[in-house]
Amino acid sequence: MSVIRSVIAGCGSYLPEKVVTNKQLEDVVDTSDEWIIERTGIRQRHIAAEGELTSDLALEASKRALADADMTADELDLIILATATPDQTFPSTATRVQAALGMTHGAAFDVQAVCSGFVYALATADNFIRSGQARNVLVIGAETFSRILDWEDRTTCVLFGDGAGAVILSAHEGEGKNTDRGILTTHLHSDGRYNDLLYVDGGPSSTKSTGYLRMKGREVFRHAVKNLADVVGESLHAVGLAADDVDIVVPHQANKRILDGTAKKLGIDPEKIVMTVHKHANTSAASIPLALDEAVKQGRISTGDVVILEAMGGGFTWGACLLRW
Ligand code: ACO
Repeated sequence: MSVIRSVIAGCGSYLPEKVVTNKQLEDVVDTSDEWIIERTGIRQRHIAAEGELTSDLALEASKRALADADMTADELDLIILATATPDQTFPSTATRVQAALGMTHGAAFDVQAVCSGFVYALATADNFIRSGQARNVLVIGAETFSRILDWEDRTTCVLFGDGAGAVILSAHEGEGKNTDRGILTTHLHSDGRYNDLLYVDGGPSSTKSTGYLRMKGREVFRHAVKNLADVVGESLHAVGLAADDVDIVVPHQANKRILDGTAKKLGIDPEKIVMTVHKHANTSAASIPLALDEAVKQGRISTGDVVILEAMGGGFTWGACLLRW
């Protein structure tokens, strides 16, 4: 049976120039390089320059993804941008990127699922492609989390960074089998009961201000490993594959201990887990496309490989995307 599959035709990423090390944060809050490395694996993070916006990071990543796919913005039908740190409350950051790319056709919109945003955006794009409503979609994850951090709260400000990543998804014909190239399955979940474990204490409708990130880290950690292992298992089951069939996992980069714990629970070789959290910290919706781009550029992913992207974030939201490269 002939089916439409969404294949990643190109990817790109962008990090702000400025790097802030754990050591430098010792001058900002009561913390230590040792504490941060031991609890999170993070060694440094990139921070956007003053005036450098989420859309600026997104635009650079998008240009690189288009170049990698050997495409121009004229060929895109849709832009979906995942972010929890938009330039403005409205209009969407996606429409700013659309304008900057010189694209006046098609549509562009933002998706908000915090750290799971990129997986949510990919799943949305995949549905547009499989239903025949779009052939080429630019999917972006871009964040400037440094702007919503309380730089006096050592329990959160050491954990996050800024950055952007993007992929081009293109329609290809498949046979409807798990040997097809492209996205084989996506699975999204949320449970709003956990809203108060990870949130921003402001917003246009509540405080008329932006607010700062607040988190009960230990509680988030407890849910993360279980939810991520469950959704990866669900994805493998949906397409009749086993953990041993997975060639590479590109997880959301929140914390090395979450990545290690999830791999262990699933019985996946830690060598197959892409790890960038030590260099980028947690860049929320940008972390998966940033890590994916690095893995691709390092030659770690080959045609035919089974790739899993998985994430969990505020809401709670969580999800996975299983694809064959
Ligand atoms: N430097 C030094 N000490 C610190 C710091 C810091 N930056 N932050 C907290 N501490 C102290 C605490 O005050 C506490 O001190 P106390 O025992 O005297 O009260 C002690 O360290 C232990 O604090 P815990 O919060 O219990 O430390 P824990 O081992 O749970 O690690 C962490 C905290 C790293 C936040 C962990 O819980 C975690 O990673 N949780 C997951 C959260 C996460 O990654 N969220 C990202 C978004 S969701 C996602 O992406 C999955």
